[in-house]
Amino acid sequence: AGKLPLRGKKVLITAGPTYEAIDPVRFIGNHSSGKMGFAIAETAASLGASVVLVCGPTHLKLTHKSVERIDVTSAEEMFQVVKSQYPDTDIAIAAAAVADYRPSAVADQKIKKQAASLQINLEPTPDILKYMGEHKQNQFLVGFALETENEIENAKGKLSRKNLDLIVLNSLNDTGAGFKTETNKVTFITREGEILPQELKPKEAVAQDLFQLIQQKRYA
Ligand code: PMT
Repeated sequence: AGKLPLRGKKVLITAGPTYEAIDPVRFIGNHSSGKMGFAIAETAASLGASVVLVCGPTHLKLTHKSVERIDVTSAEEMFQVVKSQYPDTDIAIAAAAVADYRPSAVADQKIKKQAASLQINLEPTPDILKYMGEHKQNQFLVGFALETENEIENAKGKLSRKNLDLIVLNSLNDTGAGFKTETNKVTFITREGEILPQELKPKEAVAQDLFQLIQQKRYA
């Protein structure tokens, strides 16, 4: 395989937040910057893969020209793109922070300030990673887990419920880990039950470690 061990492989990556509209000017979002997913995309490209990056709203720019970038806004849009890109994917990595709920109705006009309280009814969004687990053929499927408590246990639950091969756990309890930072501190948990805690390091280095592990598991 040499210097380009992923040549000929298609890597599909989700990154960034999703925005779920409340009305024409407001949305429900989260703090994801897209940095983790972009680092994974750049690393995959540097390893020779053909890369499709599906990303929610972010100001980040790619340096690798070979990455195909598809911008989306909502979980539903991300889901539609992933569904069409997934069948011929070799490695899928879900680093996006997808909203779990969206307003069940989007107001046509800006909601006026009125009574003392306002209720917004929410409904679940599609679980994109779960869909990929259910429709897995030969893909190597990697999820992320962002946890604030019972981290290992929760991440293991997601790994098995979503039929993943590997999950990358990051905790909001670790400084320098998670949203927006240049660094991350992760624990890799494999389908076989290995728990592999990593040092705090730049997101690019986390991405390198991730592909090293994927190659060991799948393409060694
Ligand atoms: O973007 P950065 O600022 O660099 O921050 C990086 C990050 C913290 C966003 C990233 O490292 C990370 O942890 N991403 C996943 C965040 C998350 O939504 O975790 P979760 O535990 O809620 O979701 C579990 C997995 O299911 C994730 O792979 C997620 O992409 C996926 N998911 C969740 C809900 C949904 N409707 N569809 C999904 O595909």
